[in-house]
Amino acid sequence: MVRINDNYAKLQSSYLFTTVSRKTAAFHEAHPEREIIRLGIGDVTLPLPRSIVRAFREAVDEMGEGPTFRGYGPEQGYEFLRKLIAERDFQARGARIDAAEVFVSDGAKSDTANIQELFALDVRVALPDPVYPVYVDTNVMAGRTGAFRAGRYEGLCYLDATEANGYVPEPPEDEVDVIYLCFPNNPTGATASRAQLERWVAYAREHRSLILFDAAYEAFIRDESLPRSIFEIPGAKEVAIEFRSFSKTAGFTGTRCAYTVVPRECAAPGPDGAPVSLHELWSRRQTTKFNGVSYPVQRAAAAVYSEEGSRETRAHLDYYLANAKLIRAKLVELGVPCSGGESSPYVWARVGGDSWAFFDRLLGEAGVVCTPGSGFGLCGEGYVRFSAFNERGKVEAALDRIGSMAIGG
Ligand code: MLT
Repeated sequence: MVRINDNYAKLQSSYLFTTVSRKTAAFHEAHPEREIIRLGIGDVTLPLPRSIVRAFREAVDEMGEGPTFRGYGPEQGYEFLRKLIAERDFQARGARIDAAEVFVSDGAKSDTANIQELFALDVRVALPDPVYPVYVDTNVMAGRTGAFRAGRYEGLCYLDATEANGYVPEPPEDEVDVIYLCFPNNPTGATASRAQLERWVAYAREHRSLILFDAAYEAFIRDESLPRSIFEIPGAKEVAIEFRSFSKTAGFTGTRCAYTVVPRECAAPGPDGAPVSLHELWSRRQTTKFNGVSYPVQRAAAAVYSEEGSRETRAHLDYYLANAKLIRAKLVELGVPCSGGESSPYVWARVGGDSWAFFDRLLGEAGVVCTPGSGFGLCGEGYVRFSAFNERGKVEAALDRIGSMAIGG
């Protein structure tokens, strides 16, 4: 008789964004005449830039001709893309990452979800609260937690990210083994300074822990003094893995391309205590379970680094950042305390009370979708997240509607 993995029974209801879209669909069905404006999930709305579409199309044509057709690609990704990533995203900023350390994949979501497979079930996992729910749920699925009680899973070390610490938790007093960090942060939009990341790297080196650094939103950083990569911090290569994505940077949410950097220096003790290379282990995992990203998609991703591609993607990022600025300004005008929206496409707003109740009210009264803060963790209660990914006119219309509601923290 088949039995389910008991750990799945510990999971709370459905995945956050699935619940948001189910509630939105139910509202639409009940009120088909109402126009809904989505500032919920962070999904891009601008079409792919022209230079990227051109590279994509040319690569599709290559696949249709005998001499240029390609079957399985190199497992870690094509060299042409990995080299560009290493040179432009890391070496140009002083981080010594080479192409062999880059693993091209279909998404930072799947990589941040899968990476925990490399670690023992009894490692102590630390993660901020609020947090991108994938980090939590995948550790629950793996069996690294106890039951869900009073808003949190037993066995995880939650690092409160609050207004008081600017949503950047300091390393804990306790010893933790695996630490998830995400900057610019999803959901709060907070950024971490070099000094703050230096303290995390020092902690990881002292405690022989590993930082899983999600930098999916680094392209939104406009303050040049802020680090974009954990590998800009000296000593990080031995203690960190970094996840990046073309989804938000270049409009690839539907096209799917991302990458993970696992430095060769990164190691953790194996069964006999001797260090095992995490680079080798990730390679072993990926080559067994994943067959790579299609050639045209990798060509499209490479076009992001061309002169035209950089200019076009930068314009898209600026467009979303201008939306974020409008959202922030409106909330400030309404007296709603908020963070983010400056080096991030997300604005985190203190609306008070039950965040799902606010979600329902905003949808019901204004026809606007946000993401309830409690979906990201206990510390998110009383907050909601607004995403800046939408057309300018829709963002402006949403803000007008929000402006005519009585809201406040
Ligand atoms: C979000 O809205 O938090 C993101 O779109 C989720 C994701 O990238 O998977």
